[in-house]
Amino acid sequence: MNAMPPTNSPIIAAFIAHTPGSAENYAAAQRLFPGGVTHDSRYVRPHPLAIARAEGARKWDVDGNEYVDYAGGHGALILGHAHPAVMARVAEQLARGTHYGANHALENRWAELIQELVPSAEMVRFTSSGTEATLMALRLARAATGRTKLLRLRGHFHGWHDHMAFGVTNHFDGTPTPGVLGALADNVVFVDPNDEAGLVALLDAEGADIAAAILEPTGASYGQAPLRPAFVRRLREETARRGIVLVFDEVVTGFRVARGGAQEELGIRPDLTTLAKILAGGLPGGAVVGTRDVLELLDPERAAARGVEKVQHQGTYNANPLSAAAGIATLEIIRDTDAVARCHAYAARLRAALNDVLAEESLNWAVYGAHTGIHVFVNPKGLAIGPRNFEPLSMGYAELKIPRGNQTVTKLLLAMRTRGVDFAPWPGGPASAAHTDEDLDRTVAAFRGAIRALREEREIA
Ligand SMILES: Cc1ncc(COP(=O)(O)O)c(C=O)c1O
Repeated sequence: MNAMPPTNSPIIAAFIAHTPGSAENYAAAQRLFPGGVTHDSRYVRPHPLAIARAEGARKWDVDGNEYVDYAGGHGALILGHAHPAVMARVAEQLARGTHYGANHALENRWAELIQELVPSAEMVRFTSSGTEATLMALRLARAATGRTKLLRLRGHFHGWHDHMAFGVTNHFDGTPTPGVLGALADNVVFVDPNDEAGLVALLDAEGADIAAAILEPTGASYGQAPLRPAFVRRLREETARRGIVLVFDEVVTGFRVARGGAQEELGIRPDLTTLAKILAGGLPGGAVVGTRDVLELLDPERAAARGVEKVQHQGTYNANPLSAAAGIATLEIIRDTDAVARCHAYAARLRAALNDVLAEESLNWAVYGAHTGIHVFVNPKGLAIGPRNFEPLSMGYAELKIPRGNQTVTKLLLAMRTRGVDFAPWPGGPASAAHTDEDLDRTVAAFRGAIRALREEREIA
């Protein structure tokens, strides 16, 4: 078991005193799981929260402490926790069985809703996660083009499989992270986000070998390092011209940036789109959607008619009935209500209110983002910026994506938690449609208190 290093930080001491049950849970977890966690981004010292229950925009830890939640189920819960309509559909399905090993009507309904909402979704193939969806999309692109290489943007995250494990938080030179084949990494080429000249030069040199270009269409880590729409348009034009399959990874942005995702907002049609998170309403699930031309490579008869071998794809939990039930309930609410718009409005109000706090406290940080995104830039290099004059597009991904484990960020997260707010670790969070004015007020008060605590122990000037 890892021992917690001794600390003279009142913020850390207060967090430890506030969350004894979470500490106890973590001690057991450390005996079971590497690092005591089951997802890299849940790792935080001295210990992560152990949550016992969640509802709406709130969750409660094992000590009974209440939090305004911005983890948002890693972005899966745009309607908040345990939405009654979603829970009712899942409960109804639970009574009818959890797995048929066969086709079922719910998967048709789920796919019809996707087709209705996502502009480029001519056909659908379900997977169990976003990682599986991007893996499938790349295989389809290679099969469709007969090419091997893959173009990615530095800092963009597409899940944890071998094609994607480097160039996100480190290894920006394209060398593989531990356990990943060098031969695979050799077939992945990178450009810097927003670098149109670099993009064209790379495509001129290697475009004929590139099967797919994949990106987070609003920028790395849900717009933490935003992309210019003009860059995305250029990428669409260049890939179309060169026969490269363009993959929008909308695992986060799907059903969130707009009902039909970033592609609806940008008015750009990718060849393939990967979906997960909101898609399955908080249960596990993902999908690759896109042109009939490419998706039909999974169809035994259509592939044979084209004289090619079909692309393989299995998956025990593809289109699982429980995920389908939660997904249908969620997508119907997104289609039929103003949930997405309310979520955008809350995020905009919260960003403005948090920037007011920064201005009042004379702190050279900034809170930025678009749609439902809230990104707190803690300005580790002390750049001459402030809450009222921050332009993230003028900065690179390397400045904006602050490495995990940054001490100021960790202390901010812990100080917020002690004050009843659980920010996502980047730090910030997606807003949900369940957040209320009261949640906003609590968040603002916690942010102000956390900043003052950081100042008191001279973590920030
Ligand atoms: C943009 C993006 N793509 C893919 C994934 C991977 O999805 P999953 O965690 O469902 O495998 C994520 C997960 O956060 C993501 O943010």
